[in-house]
Amino acid sequence: MEQNKDLIQFDIPLAKRIHLNNSNSIIKKKLLILSPFILLLCSIFTLRLIRNVEIGPLDNLNFQSQINYDHRLLGHLPYAEIPKEKLVLIEPNIEVHMDMRDSLLKMREEAKKDGIYLVFLSGYRSINLQNDIFYSLKSIRNQEAAERARVSAPPGYSEHSTGFAIDIGDATQRETDFETDFENTDAFKWLIKNAAKFHFKLSFNKDNKYIDYEPWHWRYEGSIEALKVFESSNRKF
Ligand code: DAL
Ligand code: ZN
Repeated sequence: MEQNKDLIQFDIPLAKRIHLNNSNSIIKKKLLILSPFILLLCSIFTLRLIRNVEIGPLDNLNFQSQINYDHRLLGHLPYAEIPKEKLVLIEPNIEVHMDMRDSLLKMREEAKKDGIYLVFLSGYRSINLQNDIFYSLKSIRNQEAAERARVSAPPGYSEHSTGFAIDIGDATQRETDFETDFENTDAFKWLIKNAAKFHFKLSFNKDNKYIDYEPWHWRYEGSIEALKVFESSNRKF
């Protein structure tokens, strides 16, 4: 009896099973399972945000450079004017780049041997002259710049200013000078067959979206300088 009394005095608290709040523990478990996915989603979102901020302006630059990556104006590439000391006279009114003189004259000679009579219509044109042509004809014809640029390059954008371009006609059919009809002449047919042997190439073919077909306009690509000048034009993107 005495012993029981002691036990009551120093009673040990009864062990109790404590249950955590049931719904809270389910949410915590779910969060634990989902946490890697949530972390992944947050990382993706953050990365996208950073990419937009950092790459955004670069994307804009790329977009702009796609529009005008080679500085074309109304479909024409820019060309510097040839220095005067590189020009040579081949006809009373026609000057060309010294690099192309021999090849051009040889081409005319070879054509003659085949009974074809080439006539040179226009060679080097200064940027000033190109300016007069572009603006005077534009106003005479009451045309907007883009329309005029289909047949004449804006000043600073003509192959003629490089001295490497030559307009060619058929001496036996002068009515076709600067006309699309030139393509039906023997001279044109001969050029299509033979001009590459002399390093000449048709500049404006029928595929050009901005510039009209010019069967009379040929350019010389037979020297490193000429190739450099026409590099952009020949490059396919
Ligand atoms: N007719 C060509 C496009 C020029 O003016 O250069
Ligand atoms: Zn021309």
